[in-house]
Amino acid sequence: MSESAKLSFKGQEYEFPVITGTENESAIDIAKLRASSGLITLDPGYKNTGATTSAITFLDGEEGILRYRGYRIEDLAEKSTFLEVSYLLIYGELPTQAQYENFSKEITHHTLVHEDIKKILEGFPSNAHPMGVLSSLICSLTAFYPDSLNPVRNKEEVDMSIVRLIAKMPTFAAWAYKNEMGHPVNYPDNALDYCSNFLKMMFALPAEKYDVDPVVSAALDKLLILHADHEQNCSTSTVRIVGSSQASIYASISAGINALWGPLHGGANQSVIEMLEAIKADGGDAKKYLDKAKDKNDPFRLMGFGHRVYKNFDPRAKIIKKAADDVLEKLGVNDPVLDIAKELEQAALNDQYFIDRQLYPNVDFYSGIIYRALGIPTDMFTVMFALGRLPGWIAQWKEMRENGEPIGRPRQVYTGENERDYVSINKR
Ligand code: MLT
Repeated sequence: MSESAKLSFKGQEYEFPVITGTENESAIDIAKLRASSGLITLDPGYKNTGATTSAITFLDGEEGILRYRGYRIEDLAEKSTFLEVSYLLIYGELPTQAQYENFSKEITHHTLVHEDIKKILEGFPSNAHPMGVLSSLICSLTAFYPDSLNPVRNKEEVDMSIVRLIAKMPTFAAWAYKNEMGHPVNYPDNALDYCSNFLKMMFALPAEKYDVDPVVSAALDKLLILHADHEQNCSTSTVRIVGSSQASIYASISAGINALWGPLHGGANQSVIEMLEAIKADGGDAKKYLDKAKDKNDPFRLMGFGHRVYKNFDPRAKIIKKAADDVLEKLGVNDPVLDIAKELEQAALNDQYFIDRQLYPNVDFYSGIIYRALGIPTDMFTVMFALGRLPGWIAQWKEMRENGEPIGRPRQVYTGENERDYVSINKR
């Protein structure tokens, strides 16, 4: 027997179906709420509102659970690769050996970008933030692949667009960094794996041999897996709502990159390092800043602690913490900023004030530390987040399109002026 929920309003009673997902989450289906009662719901930030049903990612904020297509993030981070996880998220199943080899070959074959895109890149000043460069270059693909502009009519083109996005994102990301450094760009090296190719495009310099450190490449691959999807977060919801208008996948992903840019979302890992550098510049006294964070009259807040969804711990943070410790040890990194991070981490994990407020180190805290240890500059951290989140955005966009979901068009409660007559300027 299906469940239902009743609402009583102004002496009337209304009944709405309740749907239950495969992990026993329940939701009131209010599709007929306004037509039957004249009411709408109000939920700024949509924290209590489901925008869709989805079979891609399940997370449980109370239990600290994160699964991609039913597979535990802990298992995928330990045993899989980013490209295999990308295939899983997008197509719903782990690939067979033949499927993986074909997917990997397709992506490798499309890492190069049209030479005219270099002219777009050259138009950016070197102080352009890499996220603005990245979203622009991704959106420029609509010009070079005009058949992508109608995703509803052209499914084959969508599949090709998916390959191009995954193949070219590392190239664009590395080029955005080279633009910032004022260095010539590097072309992809298709003899290398996904992460090694990216690192070489990032850090290789003309006339110098560049060997990718396997420790760094493996840590990066794990980081990208951990960031690959996270159900209906801000940037994924942006990708879905732009795609719901039947805009191209390139335009939708470009919008997602811009949403991720914000310091409250993907920019948090950049803000973590900026906070640590500010503490170092102020003498490096971590305890002083821990006390400031506790002082309700002090505007200082710790960046990289707690999470709007996870109430006890972020499962990704536990995995990334170990990777951070491994990378720092293997690379022999000795960085005072990272020492400050360790002090803040120990305090947050042991101080009752932070424990009571679930202010534990989150994925952004540790990813900022690892990216810094890998030599990636701070304003490239959110670009790294976008590189990881790309397959999740693609999977969510594809699911929305294949389910034929309607255009996103939320309602509002109007709180402005009531009707009034126009008064000419000489009478005001
Ligand atoms: C994410 O992975 O997108 C972030 O943790 C933010 C979120 O899920 O709201």
